[in-house]
Amino acid sequence: MMLEKLQNTIAYIKSRSQFKPSIGIILGSGLGTFIKNVKVDSSFSFHELPNFVPPTVEGHNGNLIFGHLKETPIVALQGRIHYYEGHGMDTVVLPTRVMAMLGINTLFITNSAGGLDPQMNPGEFMIIEDHINLMGSNPLTGPNPAALGPRFPDMTEAYDKTLRSKLENALKNNKVKYHKGIYCAVSGPTYETPAEVRYLRMIGGSAVGMSTVPEVIAANHLGLKVSAISCITNKAAGISNKKLSHDEVTETAKKVEQHFSEFVTEFITSL
Ligand code: HPA
Repeated sequence: MMLEKLQNTIAYIKSRSQFKPSIGIILGSGLGTFIKNVKVDSSFSFHELPNFVPPTVEGHNGNLIFGHLKETPIVALQGRIHYYEGHGMDTVVLPTRVMAMLGINTLFITNSAGGLDPQMNPGEFMIIEDHINLMGSNPLTGPNPAALGPRFPDMTEAYDKTLRSKLENALKNNKVKYHKGIYCAVSGPTYETPAEVRYLRMIGGSAVGMSTVPEVIAANHLGLKVSAISCITNKAAGISNKKLSHDEVTETAKKVEQHFSEFVTEFITSL
Protein backbone atom coordinates (compact mmCIF):
# COMPACT_ATOMS: atom_id res chain seq x y z
CA MET A 1 0.00 0.00 0.00
CA MET A 2 2.77 2.39 0.96
CA LEU A 3 4.71 1.48 -2.21
CA GLU A 4 1.61 2.06 -4.28
CA LYS A 5 1.19 5.55 -2.83
CA LEU A 6 4.81 6.31 -3.58
CA GLN A 7 4.46 5.07 -7.12
CA ASN A 8 1.37 7.24 -7.65
CA THR A 9 3.20 10.35 -6.50
CA ILE A 10 6.24 9.51 -8.66
CA ALA A 11 4.03 8.87 -11.70
CA TYR A 12 2.34 12.27 -11.25
CA ILE A 13 5.68 14.08 -11.05
CA LYS A 14 7.27 12.15 -13.94
CA SER A 15 4.33 12.89 -16.22
CA ARG A 16 5.01 16.61 -15.71
CA SER A 17 8.79 16.86 -15.28
CA GLN A 18 11.68 14.77 -16.59
CA PHE A 19 14.15 16.54 -14.33
CA LYS A 20 16.83 14.25 -12.82
CA PRO A 21 18.05 15.60 -9.48
CA SER A 22 21.23 14.27 -7.85
CA ILE A 23 20.88 16.01 -4.49
CA GLY A 24 17.83 16.57 -2.29
CA ILE A 25 17.48 19.42 0.20
CA ILE A 26 14.88 19.78 2.94
CA LEU A 27 14.52 23.38 4.08
CA GLY A 28 13.38 24.03 7.65
CA SER A 29 11.33 26.85 9.18
CA GLY A 30 12.16 30.27 7.79
CA LEU A 31 15.09 28.96 5.75
CA GLY A 32 13.29 28.87 2.43
CA THR A 33 14.91 31.93 0.83
CA PHE A 34 17.82 29.82 -0.34
CA ILE A 35 15.52 28.90 -3.24
CA LYS A 36 16.27 32.30 -4.80
CA ASN A 37 19.68 30.88 -5.74
CA VAL A 38 18.06 28.02 -7.64
CA LYS A 39 17.32 28.25 -11.35
CA VAL A 40 13.91 26.59 -11.20
CA ASP A 41 13.00 23.97 -13.79
CA SER A 42 9.64 22.90 -12.37
CA SER A 43 7.77 23.28 -9.11
CA PHE A 44 4.87 21.50 -7.41
CA SER A 45 2.89 22.68 -4.42
CA PHE A 46 2.12 20.13 -1.70
CA HIS A 47 -1.55 20.81 -2.45
CA GLU A 48 -1.34 19.34 -5.92
CA LEU A 49 0.95 16.37 -5.24
CA PRO A 50 -0.91 13.08 -4.65
CA ASN A 51 -0.40 11.83 -1.07
CA PHE A 52 1.37 15.00 0.09
CA VAL A 53 -0.40 17.04 2.79
CA PRO A 54 -0.34 20.85 2.86
CA PRO A 55 1.65 22.45 5.72
CA THR A 56 -0.34 23.94 8.58
CA VAL A 57 2.39 26.02 10.24
CA GLU A 58 3.25 29.63 9.53
CA GLY A 59 6.76 30.02 8.11
CA HIS A 60 6.50 26.74 6.21
CA ASN A 61 5.77 26.91 2.52
CA GLY A 62 4.95 23.63 0.89
CA ASN A 63 6.64 23.19 -2.45
CA LEU A 64 8.71 20.55 -4.17
CA ILE A 65 11.10 22.39 -6.46
CA PHE A 66 13.37 21.04 -9.20
CA GLY A 67 16.19 23.13 -10.58
CA HIS A 68 19.88 23.86 -10.86
CA LEU A 69 22.05 25.32 -8.16
CA LYS A 70 24.86 26.52 -10.42
CA GLU A 71 25.59 23.27 -12.32
CA THR A 72 24.11 20.91 -9.72
CA PRO A 73 20.66 19.43 -10.42
CA ILE A 74 18.75 19.50 -7.15
CA VAL A 75 15.29 18.89 -5.75
CA ALA A 76 14.31 21.01 -2.76
CA LEU A 77 11.50 20.55 -0.33
CA GLN A 78 10.48 24.03 0.75
CA GLY A 79 8.67 23.23 3.96
CA ARG A 80 8.24 19.75 5.35
CA ILE A 81 5.56 17.54 6.86
CA HIS A 82 5.84 17.39 10.65
CA TYR A 83 4.86 14.53 12.93
CA TYR A 84 3.20 16.97 15.36
CA GLU A 85 0.73 17.96 12.66
CA GLY A 86 -0.86 14.60 13.33
CA HIS A 87 0.24 12.69 10.26
CA GLY A 88 1.54 9.15 10.34
CA MET A 89 5.26 8.62 9.98
CA ASP A 90 4.63 7.20 6.48
CA THR A 91 3.34 10.61 5.43
CA VAL A 92 6.15 12.47 7.21
CA VAL A 93 8.82 10.57 5.24
CA LEU A 94 6.93 10.34 1.93
CA PRO A 95 8.76 13.36 0.42
CA THR A 96 12.14 11.82 1.36
CA ARG A 97 11.19 8.56 -0.33
CA VAL A 98 9.88 10.38 -3.38
CA MET A 99 13.15 12.29 -3.74
CA ALA A 100 15.12 9.03 -3.40
CA MET A 101 13.01 7.33 -6.05
CA LEU A 102 13.58 10.29 -8.37
CA GLY A 103 17.28 9.47 -8.23
CA ILE A 104 19.02 11.57 -5.57
CA ASN A 105 22.00 9.94 -3.84
CA THR A 106 22.54 12.63 -1.20
CA LEU A 107 20.10 14.37 1.14
CA PHE A 108 20.85 17.60 3.00
CA ILE A 109 18.43 18.50 5.79
CA THR A 110 18.07 21.77 7.66
CA ASN A 111 16.02 22.61 10.72
CA SER A 112 15.50 25.04 13.55
CA ALA A 113 16.42 23.84 17.00
CA GLY A 114 16.76 24.97 20.59
CA GLY A 115 20.27 24.99 22.05
CA LEU A 116 20.75 22.62 24.99
CA ASP A 117 24.45 23.33 25.25
CA PRO A 118 24.75 26.71 27.04
CA GLN A 119 27.55 27.64 24.59
CA MET A 120 25.06 27.76 21.74
CA ASN A 121 23.53 31.12 20.94
CA PRO A 122 20.58 32.02 18.73
CA GLY A 123 21.69 32.59 15.15
CA GLU A 124 24.54 30.06 15.32
CA PHE A 125 24.55 26.73 13.52
CA MET A 126 25.17 23.15 14.57
CA ILE A 127 26.45 20.42 12.27
CA ILE A 128 24.51 17.33 13.34
CA GLU A 129 26.95 14.51 14.12
CA ASP A 130 24.40 12.06 15.44
CA HIS A 131 20.91 12.00 16.90
CA ILE A 132 18.77 10.60 19.68
CA ASN A 133 15.25 9.68 18.61
CA LEU A 134 12.80 10.55 21.39
CA MET A 135 9.78 11.02 19.15
CA GLY A 136 8.26 7.81 20.46
CA SER A 137 7.97 6.48 16.94
CA ASN A 138 10.07 5.32 13.99
CA PRO A 139 9.10 5.67 10.32
CA LEU A 140 10.20 2.09 9.58
CA THR A 141 7.74 0.33 11.89
CA GLY A 142 5.34 -1.93 10.02
CA PRO A 143 5.88 -4.06 6.93
CA ASN A 144 9.25 -3.53 5.25
CA PRO A 145 9.03 -3.44 1.44
CA ALA A 146 12.38 -4.89 0.36
CA ALA A 147 12.44 -2.41 -2.53
CA LEU A 148 13.04 0.38 -0.04
CA GLY A 149 15.79 -1.11 2.11
CA PRO A 150 16.75 -3.61 4.81
CA ARG A 151 14.52 -4.54 7.76
CA PHE A 152 17.20 -3.52 10.31
CA PRO A 153 19.21 -0.63 8.87
CA ASP A 154 22.58 0.23 10.34
CA MET A 155 22.75 3.75 11.80
CA THR A 156 26.44 3.88 12.78
CA GLU A 157 27.15 6.74 10.40
CA ALA A 158 23.68 8.16 9.87
CA TYR A 159 25.30 11.53 9.12
CA ASP A 160 27.99 10.89 6.52
CA LYS A 161 31.45 11.78 7.75
CA THR A 162 32.78 13.10 4.44
CA LEU A 163 29.71 15.30 4.02
CA ARG A 164 30.13 16.59 7.57
CA SER A 165 33.67 17.71 6.83
CA LYS A 166 32.62 19.36 3.54
CA LEU A 167 29.84 21.16 5.39
CA GLU A 168 32.34 22.31 7.99
CA ASN A 169 34.60 23.70 5.25
CA ALA A 170 31.70 25.67 3.75
CA LEU A 171 30.86 27.13 7.18
CA LYS A 172 34.50 28.08 7.81
CA ASN A 173 34.93 29.67 4.38
CA ASN A 174 31.84 31.78 4.98
CA LYS A 175 32.94 32.74 8.52
CA VAL A 176 29.73 31.39 10.03
CA LYS A 177 29.71 30.60 13.76
CA TYR A 178 29.04 26.88 14.13
CA HIS A 179 29.13 23.99 16.56
CA LYS A 180 28.98 20.23 16.16
CA GLY A 181 26.70 18.06 18.23
CA ILE A 182 23.88 15.68 18.91
CA TYR A 183 20.32 16.49 17.84
CA CYS A 184 17.52 15.21 20.09
CA ALA A 185 14.21 14.77 18.28
CA VAL A 186 11.02 15.12 20.29
CA SER A 187 7.46 14.94 19.01
CA GLY A 188 6.38 18.42 20.09
CA PRO A 189 4.29 20.47 19.58
CA THR A 190 4.92 21.79 23.09
CA TYR A 191 8.38 23.14 23.69
CA GLU A 192 10.23 21.29 26.44
CA THR A 193 9.93 21.90 30.15
CA PRO A 194 13.12 22.99 31.93
CA ALA A 195 13.25 19.53 33.57
CA GLU A 196 13.07 17.88 30.14
CA VAL A 197 15.85 20.16 28.92
CA ARG A 198 18.07 19.11 31.85
CA TYR A 199 17.30 15.48 31.00
CA LEU A 200 18.18 15.97 27.31
CA ARG A 201 21.43 17.64 28.30
CA MET A 202 22.24 14.79 30.69
CA ILE A 203 21.71 12.07 28.07
CA GLY A 204 24.13 13.80 25.71
CA GLY A 205 22.01 16.15 23.61
CA SER A 206 23.35 19.42 22.21
CA ALA A 207 20.19 20.72 20.52
CA VAL A 208 16.51 19.79 20.48
CA GLY A 209 13.91 19.95 17.75
CA MET A 210 10.73 18.41 16.35
CA SER A 211 11.83 17.20 12.93
CA THR A 212 14.65 15.74 10.81
CA VAL A 213 15.09 12.36 12.52
CA PRO A 214 12.23 10.61 10.64
CA GLU A 215 13.69 11.81 7.33
CA VAL A 216 17.22 10.81 8.35
CA ILE A 217 16.04 7.32 9.29
CA ALA A 218 14.09 6.88 6.03
CA ALA A 219 17.01 8.23 3.99
CA ASN A 220 19.51 5.86 5.62
CA HIS A 221 17.09 3.00 5.03
CA LEU A 222 17.04 3.95 1.34
CA GLY A 223 20.85 4.02 1.21
CA LEU A 224 21.18 7.79 0.76
CA LYS A 225 24.13 9.73 2.11
CA VAL A 226 22.80 12.23 4.63
CA SER A 227 24.00 15.51 6.04
CA ALA A 228 22.07 17.86 8.34
CA ILE A 229 22.43 21.18 10.09
CA SER A 230 20.46 22.97 12.79
CA CYS A 231 19.95 26.67 12.98
CA ILE A 232 19.95 27.39 16.71
CA THR A 233 17.00 29.75 16.93
CA ASN A 234 16.75 29.95 20.72
CA LYS A 235 18.21 28.66 23.94
CA ALA A 236 16.16 25.65 25.09
CA ALA A 237 13.61 26.20 27.88
CA GLY A 238 15.06 27.16 31.25
CA ILE A 239 18.57 27.89 29.91
CA SER A 240 17.75 31.57 29.69
CA ASN A 241 14.92 33.26 31.59
CA LYS A 242 13.04 33.98 28.40
CA LYS A 243 9.85 32.17 27.48
CA LEU A 244 9.89 30.39 24.11
CA SER A 245 7.79 31.42 21.15
CA HIS A 246 7.45 30.39 17.53
CA ASP A 247 7.93 34.06 16.62
CA GLU A 248 11.40 34.04 18.18
CA VAL A 249 12.21 30.87 16.23
CA THR A 250 11.15 32.28 12.85
CA GLU A 251 12.69 35.72 13.54
CA THR A 252 16.12 34.21 14.29
CA ALA A 253 15.91 31.97 11.22
CA LYS A 254 15.01 35.03 9.10
CA LYS A 255 18.02 36.97 10.42
CA VAL A 256 20.50 34.32 9.31
CA GLU A 257 18.82 33.42 6.03
CA GLN A 258 21.36 35.28 3.90
CA HIS A 259 24.37 33.59 5.52
CA PHE A 260 22.52 30.32 5.34
CA SER A 261 21.91 30.63 1.59
CA GLU A 262 25.58 31.39 1.01
CA PHE A 263 27.16 28.51 2.90
CA VAL A 264 24.51 26.02 1.75
CA THR A 265 25.11 27.01 -1.86
CA GLU A 266 28.86 26.56 -1.41
CA PHE A 267 28.37 23.22 0.35
CA ILE A 268 25.96 21.77 -2.23
CA THR A 269 28.03 22.87 -5.21
CA SER A 270 31.15 21.32 -3.61
CA LEU A 271 29.60 17.85 -3.69
N1 HPA B 1 12.57 22.97 21.20
C1 HPA B 1 12.04 22.15 20.26
N2 HPA B 1 12.00 22.48 18.98
C2 HPA B 1 12.49 23.68 18.60
C3 HPA B 1 13.05 24.57 19.52
C4 HPA B 1 13.08 24.19 20.90
O1 HPA B 1 13.57 24.93 21.78
N3 HPA B 1 13.46 25.67 18.83
C5 HPA B 1 13.14 25.43 17.53
N4 HPA B 1 12.56 24.23 17.38
